[in-house]
Amino acid sequence: MSETKNPEVAAPYGGGAGTAAPVRRVRTHHLREMKERGERITMLTSYDMYTAATFDEAGIDMLLVGDSASNNVLGNETSLPITVDELIPLTRAVARAAKRAMVVADMPFGSYQASPEQGYLTAVRFMKEAGAHCVKLEGGAEMAPVIEKLTQGGIPVVAHIGFTPQSEHALGGYRVQGRGETSERVKRDALAVQAAGAFAVVMEMVPADVAGEITRELVIPTIGIGAGNQCDGQVLVWQDAFGLRTGRMAKFVKQYADVHAALLDGARAYADEVRSGAFPGPEHSF
Ligand code: KIV
Repeated sequence: MSETKNPEVAAPYGGGAGTAAPVRRVRTHHLREMKERGERITMLTSYDMYTAATFDEAGIDMLLVGDSASNNVLGNETSLPITVDELIPLTRAVARAAKRAMVVADMPFGSYQASPEQGYLTAVRFMKEAGAHCVKLEGGAEMAPVIEKLTQGGIPVVAHIGFTPQSEHALGGYRVQGRGETSERVKRDALAVQAAGAFAVVMEMVPADVAGEITRELVIPTIGIGAGNQCDGQVLVWQDAFGLRTGRMAKFVKQYADVHAALLDGARAYADEVRSGAFPGPEHSF
């Protein structure tokens, strides 16, 4: 991808269409300024160089190398089994390909919950070995000491509250968090992660009105997934948003493309031509 020719990429922080200004990396203060201006922030997951380059070209602000790679790339049933060693090469590929987007490394289950020191050492690996620009971790008030340790050590943190998939067994499965009386807990978590130094917070499966209230109360941007349209930004898992994954989807997923159908058609056409001898033709032969 050209750094200067694509107006969509160059416009928001660069010199605009047709200029030779280099693409400027999305940074934490840009996101805060976007919130202040009421501009919505876009985030997608990405786990490889081609999706990273494509989403970057589309002007997506933040690329999350989610621990959802566990169930969307590695074939596990949940996000729990994936390890730091498995996520680092995926994060490195995304960081190498993304010229403008901020690359967020998701810290996997068990890699930061034991202590702030454990969290710091894990985050340092994502920053040094993978080239991530920040890390994301799940949890609210109870994670404040970890967030403080990381931010004091120079590592920007995205918090993740509401439904936190790494705790799916403790939470009793995929459930909306913050309905009724429990809305106070989600609000407390939001304020606690902001006070601890998080520069943004993902809110997953939180009622829209609660997420809206939190968004208005916080100075840091909120990124919603199943949290209604009053958040400062939105995130989706790309295989869900663009239809590579098929089958039952969460209510909050909207499908914008049908990559599964395109790949299936392509693979079938290829197989037909190989079987019939039509491929490779003379134009593909030496
Ligand atoms: O890992 C992931 O994809 C996530 C999103 C659901 C926000 O944490």
